[in-house]
Amino acid sequence: MNDQQLQARHQELRQQYQQVSEQKLNLDLTRGKPSTEQLALSDALDGILGNNYLCEDGSDSRNYGGIMGIPEARKFAAQYLGTTTARVMVGGNSSLQLMYQTVTNAFYHGVRGADSSWLMEAARASGQVKFLCPAPGYDRHFAVCEALNIEMIPVAMTAEGPDMDQVEALVKADPLIKGIWCVPKYSNPDGIVYSDAVVARMANLGKIAGANFRIMWDNAYAEHHLVDNPPELANILELSEAAGTLDNVVVIGSTSKITHAGAGISFIASSEANLAEFGKQLGISTIGPDKINQLRHVRFLKDMPTLRALMQKHRAILQPKFDSVLQALETGLSGKTVAGKPLGTWTKPQGGYFVLFDTQPGLADQVVKLTAAAGVKLTPAGSTYPYGKDPQNTNIRLAPSFPSVKDIEAAMRVFVLCVELATIEKALGL
Ligand SMILES: Cc1ncc(COP(=O)(O)O)c(C=O)c1O
Repeated sequence: MNDQQLQARHQELRQQYQQVSEQKLNLDLTRGKPSTEQLALSDALDGILGNNYLCEDGSDSRNYGGIMGIPEARKFAAQYLGTTTARVMVGGNSSLQLMYQTVTNAFYHGVRGADSSWLMEAARASGQVKFLCPAPGYDRHFAVCEALNIEMIPVAMTAEGPDMDQVEALVKADPLIKGIWCVPKYSNPDGIVYSDAVVARMANLGKIAGANFRIMWDNAYAEHHLVDNPPELANILELSEAAGTLDNVVVIGSTSKITHAGAGISFIASSEANLAEFGKQLGISTIGPDKINQLRHVRFLKDMPTLRALMQKHRAILQPKFDSVLQALETGLSGKTVAGKPLGTWTKPQGGYFVLFDTQPGLADQVVKLTAAAGVKLTPAGSTYPYGKDPQNTNIRLAPSFPSVKDIEAAMRVFVLCVELATIEKALGL
């Protein structure tokens, strides 16, 4: 388009924007939470125990105790995470809380007693504890680091996972880098599945990193597929055992997006020694988890085939929503260029909860602002990066799981309009 054509298109889009703004929409594509329909798939959890509160070892799930989780839930979680029962602990309703506790414990109290505290080590070296943060990534991981004043070092993502050359060089050079956040399957927000080569190199990191390094392997979307033949993720626990680095790996998961997001169960898998230490530290703040809920989950989810059948029902609800987002992007933006460049690029995830959109450089915050003023809330620009700083200002995370298809269609009409409007306004210097 020449300048005149751009001006004309700009006028058209401004008019459309005005009309949309007058509709006073109130739509929200911010957080990746399951819809009411998805939650209802697991309503049979309620009442499933039918007064039978006894666990398989004869203990009463209603009573205190059992810091590691009930035996049948640990067995179930071991299958889910691909490890042995002895290497799994089952917790309460939030894996984020387990992650926060793991990092906080290592930071203040150490992974093997006070001498191994990350904070103490940093003090001895007159330095600061640091974490690698593949970015874009999950904002709540970054919030854990920020809360503890752990310096976050962004690491580039490739189509295969974090840039491992960069990761290895960084950990080799600085022993105060104490961990890395990973969402290895259908990563939040870019939907990437780590390749076998990346997982194998991750499993070796413990050999080159400083003492007490931890890989926070948040496999939140392990079974959350949107395709028929889902990609396989290599088993980091097996690989790290073979490499002698099991202590460096903490695998996390939960049923938040399988059963009830606010009332699921969470899992953590690592070496027996790590779990024993973690159990000891956790035992200071609680006498035990909600074992009734653990029992309800095992009776409801039963085994992996049953869980996978449930995930197919989730997929049936989610798929039309993702299709609707992708369709809107395709029809609204595909093939269009401004200043010789496409209006944006976007992911086509094979699973997980997000579509990641990239605007032309420098426009994400403006697009989010324009959509918000027209009644469509998007995740704040920058939130997929440590300290909220997207260096290119291009990333916008779209989360279509909660709204209805009709609302997504309406929201996406506004979104594509705002992308084109913002891009043209920049090209025109407005
Ligand atoms: C990557 C990732 N990890 C963890 C969570 C939260 O998990 P939980 O509900 O088990 O605390 C989310 C939720 O969106 C997530 O995207």
